[in-house]
This record gives sequence, structure tokens and C-alpha cells, in this order.
Amino acid sequence: MSLSPNPVIAPSHILQLLDRLHAESLEQESQITAGRLRNKVGFDEFMRDKFIALDQDKCQFVYQTCLSIRARNVVEAGTSYGVSTIYLSLALARSSKMYGHQPSKVIATEFEPAKIAQAKKYWNECGEDVERLIDLREGDLLETLKVDLPDKVDLLLLDIWSPLALPTLKIVQPNLRPGSVVITDNITGSADRYKDLIEYLNDPSNGFSNTTVPYSKGLAVSVYLGGRS
Ligand SMILES: C[S@@+](CC[C@H](N)C(=O)[O-])C[C@H]1O[C@@H](n2cnc3c(N)ncnc32)[C@H](O)[C@@H]1O
Repeated sequence: MSLSPNPVIAPSHILQLLDRLHAESLEQESQITAGRLRNKVGFDEFMRDKFIALDQDKCQFVYQTCLSIRARNVVEAGTSYGVSTIYLSLALARSSKMYGHQPSKVIATEFEPAKIAQAKKYWNECGEDVERLIDLREGDLLETLKVDLPDKVDLLLLDIWSPLALPTLKIVQPNLRPGSVVITDNITGSADRYKDLIEYLNDPSNGFSNTTVPYSKGLAVSVYLGGRS
């Protein structure tokens, strides 16, 4: 006897869509060679149509975390085709039912027009309950996140190109509430590229308590303890 493998509570058409999108993303990733990724020339062009969706088990972990921390406001740095966004939206809806608060928004961020158009179609396929909780900021997230952030952000998902992770955290940090969670993908797989972020999170004066959950390539979970000392 084992626990149900999927903690996500959602209508079957959404669960089926998510299974399909994760499978497509993995199929694409299997075609990407490490050499291609290291070759900076043409990186943006090459990644223009790639999902690079957060792995399904990690998405489920993020969903569970949102429920546990009573999430109302979440920021997703890096939306792509909107796969993790769907989990975040489902989690906000469920959290509002559990705790009796009004759900607020998933602030999603993407700058590739073709990905934005397709993400909107997937969210529409999920239905109004998912769509209505997503506030998609179109354009460079280092600009779009500078305005209209909620006072209390409960969770920040850093699923973005590594050089943008620390600048993004620094934009959002003033709005993180004590007890909020910052989740960073590939923290061990890309440790060399996350050097600045890791140094920042490890510095106690910046207010984070960190651990790495041993999913593939590591998922960093950092709890914000409150005011920087
Ligand atoms: C790893 S993918 C996000 C995957 C997504 N979280 C999911 O699970 O489906 C990162 C995305 O960030 C986008 N991106 C990169 N730089 C950006 C920027 N400066 N502003 C907004 N989006 C950016 C890329 O186009 C890419 O689609």
C-alpha cells in the first residue's frame, strides 16, 4: 500500500492536460544536449519554443507547499507555457477554500510572445477557475515585477534563467512576508551558475533559512524569517 502519487485536487481534464504537457516538455528536453545549452550564442533563440517546465514531482511539491503556508499571493519567475502556473492557481483556489480567505493572484512572468499566447490557451482549456487567478506580466520580469506587487507575498518560485534569479529575489524580497517560501529549481544541477544566489541565501543577514530537497538537480526551499538583520 502506498500514498496516492498525485496530491493535486483538480478536475480530470486539467490533470490530463498537465500529464500531457509534462510529457511534451520531457520529450523536448531529451533532445537538448548539454553542449547546446552551454553554447551561449543563440541561447535565447534556441529556448524560444522550449517548455522547460518544472518537473511534475516538483510542481506537486510546490502545490503542497502553497496549501501548507495558506498561500494567497504567489510570484512565479519564469512562466513559459504556463505549466507550473496551473499548479499555483489550483493551489490558491484550494487554499482559499481550506482557510476561508479570498484567493488573490498568481503573478506570472514571461517575455516570449509565442509562449504567452500558448500559455493563455492552456489556461483557457483549464477553465475559468484557473484562468481568473492568473495575473500575467508580459515583458522583462526585472521591470514587470517592480510595480504592483502585493504587500505580502507568500511564495516566490524561481524557475528562471540563473543570472536572473538573484536580481528577481531582490525585487520581491521587500514584499515577502515572514514565513514565506522561496523555491529555486536546479539548485544543485546549476550550482556553479547560481553562485551569487547561493551566497546571498547563505548569508544570515539576508534572513533566509535554507534546505535542498533532493529532487532531480535539487530544489532549494528557503523560508524567509523576516526583516534582514
Ligand atoms: C524554465 S522556464 C519556466 C517554466 C515554467 N515555470 C513551467 O514550469 O512551465 C523559464 C522561462 O523564463 C522566460 N524568461 C527568461 N528571461 C525572462 C525575462 N527577463 N523576463 C520574463 N521571462 C523571462 C523564458 O522565456 C522561459 O520561458
